[in-house]
Amino acid sequence: MGISYFEEKKIFKLDTERTTYLIGLSPEGYVGHIYYGRRLLGEGSNYLLRMQEPPYTPSVNLREKSSFLDAFPTEYPTGGIGDYRESCLDVRGESGSIGSELLFDSYRILKGKEKLAGLPASFGRQEDVETLEIICEDSILQLRAILSYSVFACCDMITRSVRIENIGSRHLKLEKVYSACLDMDNRDFEMLTLTGSWARERCIQRGRVRYGKQMVSSVRGESSHQEHPFIALVTPETTQESGEIYAMNFVYSGNFIAQAELSQYGNVRMVMGIHEDYFCWNLRPGEMFQTPEAVLTYSAQGLGRMTRNFHDFYREHIIRSPHKYGKRPVLINNWEATYFDFDSEKLVDIAKEAGKAGIEMLVMDDGWFGKRNCDDSSLGDWTVNEEKITAGLPDLVQRVNDAGLKFGIWFEPEMISPDSDLYRAHPDWAIQIKGRRPTQIRAQYVLDLSRPEVVDYAYKCIADILHCAPIAYVKWDMNRQLCDIGSSCLKEDAQGELMHRYVLGVYEMQERLVNEFPDLLLENCSGGGARFDPGMLYYSPQIWCSDDVDAVERLRIQEGTALIYPLASMGAHIGDCPNHVVGRNTPFATRGHVALAGTFGYELDITQISKEEREQIPEQVGLYHKYRPLIQGGDYYRLASWSMEKPYDCWEVAAKDKSHALVTFVQVLAQPNVHSRVIYLRGLEEKWKYRLEGTEEIYSGEELMKCGYLVPSCKGDFISFLYHFVRN
Ligand code: DGJ
Repeated sequence: MGISYFEEKKIFKLDTERTTYLIGLSPEGYVGHIYYGRRLLGEGSNYLLRMQEPPYTPSVNLREKSSFLDAFPTEYPTGGIGDYRESCLDVRGESGSIGSELLFDSYRILKGKEKLAGLPASFGRQEDVETLEIICEDSILQLRAILSYSVFACCDMITRSVRIENIGSRHLKLEKVYSACLDMDNRDFEMLTLTGSWARERCIQRGRVRYGKQMVSSVRGESSHQEHPFIALVTPETTQESGEIYAMNFVYSGNFIAQAELSQYGNVRMVMGIHEDYFCWNLRPGEMFQTPEAVLTYSAQGLGRMTRNFHDFYREHIIRSPHKYGKRPVLINNWEATYFDFDSEKLVDIAKEAGKAGIEMLVMDDGWFGKRNCDDSSLGDWTVNEEKITAGLPDLVQRVNDAGLKFGIWFEPEMISPDSDLYRAHPDWAIQIKGRRPTQIRAQYVLDLSRPEVVDYAYKCIADILHCAPIAYVKWDMNRQLCDIGSSCLKEDAQGELMHRYVLGVYEMQERLVNEFPDLLLENCSGGGARFDPGMLYYSPQIWCSDDVDAVERLRIQEGTALIYPLASMGAHIGDCPNHVVGRNTPFATRGHVALAGTFGYELDITQISKEEREQIPEQVGLYHKYRPLIQGGDYYRLASWSMEKPYDCWEVAAKDKSHALVTFVQVLAQPNVHSRVIYLRGLEEKWKYRLEGTEEIYSGEELMKCGYLVPSCKGDFISFLYHFVRN
């Protein structure tokens, strides 16, 4: 396993446990993509580059260079030289024209993986990961491109990124620089993506790849509610268990594109990178540009394998937090309980009641600072509002701690309200186009985090608050998208750098935060789940999944999210009913079972809910503690999908050692006169016996997986069941 180079054949072979990726060089040095798929035992060869078919390589027939490039399966296509499919690199030289051509220069194979300057990225020990760098040059532009491939053999993952260096003496402009490309012959691929909106993030969408370009993207400055930096090409009939999948996810939290293009010879080109819109980066002599990382996996065993590859990879190689496998406190958040209408007394009342029920942390949400009594002011003025928090923050934290709970706090550090002391002092700190009145979204502007002094200020506001009291948790929110892309600090020819520099500013702040407060539990959030991406997971082990906590809507949202992200990264709470977004009533127990598939917490006024509901909380908290290690570290299997096909939803988490598994079954709408439902478990040991906890029922692993378990039919909408099968 790992990386090999076969000099005679000029082939690089990247092996993971179940996959092989082959890269080959043409005689003149174009870097071609030969193969990605099931593991090959032999060295492989380069006939799939089709260099023996007309129009042959340009060194054999110079007149046909464009025809060759326009069909050649390439690792990193460049624009302007005759490959008319989507390019990954567009460079404007000093002459003003666009065109670049990368030819192989040399390579380097190293154990381990180096950090990516200023960016979140996967990591691993030398025994976990090997890296190949293919160094290419454009001798005319005096530009070097280092194509980086890191191979994480045990989770079948290959990560890709590109570093562009200006090694000449002329000023270059990068107008587009993507992170990865995968050229393949089409196999009637379907494209699977995650789409949505506020309160309905990451719904699974799947459809046949058609001729031309199909993409998902964001130019909103964040990965977004609407589309997600993820794309998978799947063979027809792919299910959870069978079918082939090529998937890419982007370790980045800003603008992106993820595109599939089916072109004239039946080739599909799949690309991923920072969106070229609003992007233009100056690359002066001696400078370099580092792209974010794209994460690739291939599965020949259906979507389930793809999912588990991502889960294992993110848990082990992206999430750094010491809390990732730890006992995270069950929290209660006051947002839906009070919105902006709270004070210390109200929070302490909630904390006392929560403490009695076994809840372990109170999170004070939006509205504790400046004069913020609704959402139209004070962002940027991060001083405690002592009309609400009457004796100050240390006193409130102490009182909450006295009630037996830890304390957590909400910030929205990237923003500035027009009605704030900060804006009155520094109107130029808001992102805006000179002479044009900036657009408000939720009555706020966005701070220009391309400016180091703004990053310093915003960071210091958070740090000062965290230093004043023992605060265990921060919810880092971001409630609007970017527009009016202009910085009063960047030079005219550098305005195209703003959106990426903004994201780098966010990363810098979060990096400082996790370094200065290593024990802090950080939860990212963006108006619900608009920035749920692997870039954010590098800083926070959990991300708020959606503002919609309705148990039924959450089935769809959490199914889509868990398609790639580990369960324990999904912020999931039990909310009040009727649900604040959809007005639906669901049983308290069902809300609990659904939230158990995520981080688990409460988002309601515990002093106001019914006694019957309050009395269920200690048992729910007990369930969370019981199943937490399984949910944080186990293998996730999707057994049935309400959002796709069935009247019920069902998922399973099996321990890696197969000793036990937890199945959650949610009957959405009851149906009349139906049989029990059969569900087929996964991830068990066929030969072992399993007891269904709380009963005398014993089954073999083989029976549960091949014959299935019968969920008794029952009456009632929105009801749910947990089944815990334990090795007997
Ligand atoms: C959006 C978040 O998703 C909510 O949970 C809440 O924190 C609000 N912002 C507060 O403004």
